[in-house]
Amino acid sequence: MTADHLLLPRRVRFDLSRSPLHWIPHDPDAAYVMNSIHLLLPAGEFWFCRVYNQALPYVKDAKLRADVQGFVRQEAIHARSHETALNDYLRRHGIEIDTVLRAAHFVFDGLLDQKLTLKLGNNFIARQVQKRMARWQLRQRLAIIAAIEHYTCILGKWVLEAEALDAPNVDADLRDLFRWHGAEEVEHRCVAHDLHAHLGGTTLERQAWAVVAFPVLMALLAYSAKHMMNQDPAVGGRFFFTRWERASRRGTLPTLESLVGAALRYLDPDYHPDGEASLQDALDYFARSPAVQAALARERAAA
Ligand SMILES: [Fe+2]
Ligand SMILES: [Fe+2]
Repeated sequence: MTADHLLLPRRVRFDLSRSPLHWIPHDPDAAYVMNSIHLLLPAGEFWFCRVYNQALPYVKDAKLRADVQGFVRQEAIHARSHETALNDYLRRHGIEIDTVLRAAHFVFDGLLDQKLTLKLGNNFIARQVQKRMARWQLRQRLAIIAAIEHYTCILGKWVLEAEALDAPNVDADLRDLFRWHGAEEVEHRCVAHDLHAHLGGTTLERQAWAVVAFPVLMALLAYSAKHMMNQDPAVGGRFFFTRWERASRRGTLPTLESLVGAALRYLDPDYHPDGEASLQDALDYFARSPAVQAALARERAAA
């Protein structure tokens, strides 16, 4: 992470009351895939915050500590913004999303929040074993978050650069919601990797969890997007990844090849997220984001 850059929360608000369901005109497939990423994220982002609050007491470096705190504040706002603005927007358009939200909560609040325990009784050795297991489990969770954050950085960089989304008939509020989130993912891209390493995480742990995370994330994404597409008579019935590939040729989704390439890059032992995107690109977007500028104006008025 850049030595002198502070991660600050931006208290943005989004009004999607006028946003159409097909917010990328003539490309509902891309809109459903992007909506589904952001439908799944809040459960994950709240889980990130819980794990990071557990990790914080072990962070000895002052700059990393500030980055972790900044990361938690940003992710909490991401999760709340999507829960309030995006979920209400989809429900208002008659899309049933509770099935997808239940799947996301099953993964992040059920599966990944399970605590490993051994019934060894209450004695010195049992307490030491339990303590070491808790620390090991915390490190595995940090490795999982680091892998997910690699993909959120890749998607964040893509959404900032996707020229097809600059078309004037793309809904400006949803575009700003996704780009503000993407820019903050680019901005805080190094925190998860650096925190995992700081707490003794190994390259092998990082690689192993990435191998698991990529197919699981793609499966969740396909399940969520298909669940919404199946409710929309305007969307045809081709194979999900064929539809994705067609949208990527129109420039409204990243290519599947680029995502597989990003997954392979993460396995490089010398990988570091700093080289994956540019902080300046994120800062440039904040300077022109209507929601970020409105949030700054509200803060100035309240000061
Ligand atoms: Fe986020
Ligand atoms: Fe993030």
